[in-house]
Amino acid sequence: MYFDFICPWCLIGRRQLQAALAQFKAAQPQVEVNLAWQGVQLLPELPFNGQPFAEFYRRRLGSEQAVQQRQAQVRLAASAVGEQIDFSRIQRMPNTADAHRLLLHASELGSETQVEALLERLLAAARLAPSGANLQPGRFWAVEGAVRERLSAALCQAWRDQVPEAEDYGYFPRPMPLALRKRQVAAAQALYGALGVARGDGAGRAAQFERNYRFFDAPVALIVTIDRGFGAGGFMDLGMCLHGLMLAAQSQGLASCAIGALASYPQIVRDALDLPASEVVVCGMALGWEDAGAPVNRTRTEREALERYFTVLR
Ligand SMILES: Cc1cc2nc3c(=O)[nH]c(=O)nc-3n(C[C@H](O)[C@H](O)[C@H](O)COP(=O)(O)O)c2cc1C
Repeated sequence: MYFDFICPWCLIGRRQLQAALAQFKAAQPQVEVNLAWQGVQLLPELPFNGQPFAEFYRRRLGSEQAVQQRQAQVRLAASAVGEQIDFSRIQRMPNTADAHRLLLHASELGSETQVEALLERLLAAARLAPSGANLQPGRFWAVEGAVRERLSAALCQAWRDQVPEAEDYGYFPRPMPLALRKRQVAAAQALYGALGVARGDGAGRAAQFERNYRFFDAPVALIVTIDRGFGAGGFMDLGMCLHGLMLAAQSQGLASCAIGALASYPQIVRDALDLPASEVVVCGMALGWEDAGAPVNRTRTEREALERYFTVLR
């Protein structure tokens, strides 16, 4: 597949191909399809720092009317494959040379088989975590390809439509005590501050939050579930296992982010993964290589002073 990052038709084509491949796989499960992605710069002549988007298109298509017509055509084709394209949010038409270089670099880092082998090693290490009576609660599901696409599309849609679901378990205390609310607000401020999203910018915050449902575009996306019969003890054991996984990943030069936001839509997750009602959706996890230059990774949180949570009684 030849593609460029700036081309909406490439994205639309990719979604159509995925749907076609899913149909094909259902009809011909014995045939293995190998996809090779080949980046191509469609507009190599663009200046290194890009150009203002609106101006670029007006010049390219000749008039504002022609731009409107073309964008309406693209939006229509995109919505037919479940994508919403908001051209008004695109400020610049970038030169994609660096993006292609990065892709090339990333694709040399690990094939699908290598990634899966690494994941197995990490999970085996995480599973060494102790658990009460060695019950080893919890299951990990890696979602890839069409399953991941379908899951993310359904979660993003529910988030945009603000369709609430009954959660399987309560994560935060209800009501939230003021002292904890302050920590929550400080964490949110650290995150949105690092991202440069202003306090009153509801749309910016919503867009960042939606990234949870795309697993922050990490190469590995995991869902973590636990059998409905377990109580708080089982969650505690699973928490240790999760921390083991995060530490094992870090020891291999990887980074991770647990995604509690997934627990807000347990039924959507179960439907996409075809899981029975007995599986409680605990959280998700994004795993991959840290993009050290990304503003989000400049987020720094603080911890309470030791005496706030440790007491010696005599
Ligand atoms: C179980 C768990 C669930 C989390 N869920 C999310 C989430 O849904 N989205 C997110 O951006 N961060 C999530 N986080 C990250 C926390 O917000 C973050 O760890 C916390 O603010 C402390 O910051 P630090 O990890 O930089 O020390 C989660 C962390 C844990 C342990």
